[in-house]
Amino acid sequence: MSKLTGSRKATQFTESVIREMTRLSDLVGGVNLSQGFPDFAAPAAVKEAAIAAIRGDINQYAVTWGAAPLREAVAREFTRRYGLDVVADEQVTVCCGSTEAMMSTMMAIIDPGDEVVVFEPFYENYGPDAILSGATPRYVTLHEPDWRFDPDQLAAAFNNRTKAIIINTPNNPTGKVFTRDELETIAALCHKWDAVAISDEIYEHILYDGHRHVPIATIAGMADRTVTINGLSKTYSVTGWRVGWTISPPTLTGAIRKVHDFMTVGAPAPLQEAGAVALGLPDQYYLDLAARYQRLRDVLLGILERHHFTCYKPYGAYYIMTDISAFGFTDDVEFARHLVRNVGVAAVPGSSFYKNSANGKTKLRFCYCKRDETLLEADRRLEKLVPVGVNPR
Ligand SMILES: Cc1ncc(COP(=O)(O)O)c(C=O)c1O
Repeated sequence: MSKLTGSRKATQFTESVIREMTRLSDLVGGVNLSQGFPDFAAPAAVKEAAIAAIRGDINQYAVTWGAAPLREAVAREFTRRYGLDVVADEQVTVCCGSTEAMMSTMMAIIDPGDEVVVFEPFYENYGPDAILSGATPRYVTLHEPDWRFDPDQLAAAFNNRTKAIIINTPNNPTGKVFTRDELETIAALCHKWDAVAISDEIYEHILYDGHRHVPIATIAGMADRTVTINGLSKTYSVTGWRVGWTISPPTLTGAIRKVHDFMTVGAPAPLQEAGAVALGLPDQYYLDLAARYQRLRDVLLGILERHHFTCYKPYGAYYIMTDISAFGFTDDVEFARHLVRNVGVAAVPGSSFYKNSANGKTKLRFCYCKRDETLLEADRRLEKLVPVGVNPR
């Protein structure tokens, strides 16, 4: 066989369906409600800080594990919000987005054959993350409509080989916010099986209807066995900047930093300076952000329900998972392609969030990190969509 092929690892997963939908949408001039990036401006103070950093010639490599002002801001804010001491020098590593933070963490702590527990539906990167790091994923289902897990099923997924569990709260794609009770159940299993919790908290500030974010690192005894992952992308509407970080127990920080260093050397230096400014924004910024997204959630919920989608109301993050059974398609990917090509609205097929794609066949995810005009244009276009058994208007 020719050697001019991808590696066994690289051929085990496909191209990102989410990013494919974005490309397809661009090609046909679609309203892109697939990939989760805002189409509105980032905060002026944060942009100005980046410009000032570039003008001030902060243009060379930063310290590989992150510029001190950003690492200190990350530690300070986590301690201020959640009352848990974080030492920047020993625990914070700045990466190229939380995507790299997750990958560096997995590469740093996983040996081939180690098992990693993953809730399903899951953010699609976790699949390739597991393959590239050599982990064997064990999936535990979050059941709609409220996306709760069965504690017995979770307990059955842990064993001696379990090295870690990946948690994402607030959750993409479901909008679930894990409760303290649920996190305590997870924490008890991490203690029992000596496992690490890797907690992706990128939607930390995007919460609705009074829901509160609980970092699993703050559950008793978990600080020593949790890697918290976060970044600038969603909180400050700068998904293209590629700045994220880990907060890890000192015992794991060295391994994460080594992997990060040899993978990327470091995150963009001027944008790290701007990140330190961003983390210093007043609390009102975060309240306004959540209020804005709650309003957009309600706008899109109204639109989708009017167009016959069954919606699972989200309480955090900025996605709505829907059921598309009303439209008579048997395949979610086919429906998503129809929606973008013939209706002009891009969304993400549900199967891309499941290991067994059959489980996502009647689902579709929309995002609402968009201007009102964008959502209203989607509303107008969706008029074309006719469910089975309904006469076209
Ligand atoms: C759960 C989750 N984690 C991570 C990311 C990527 O974040 P970053 O831009 O920091 O790499 C996303 C983006 O959609 C996400 O939904």
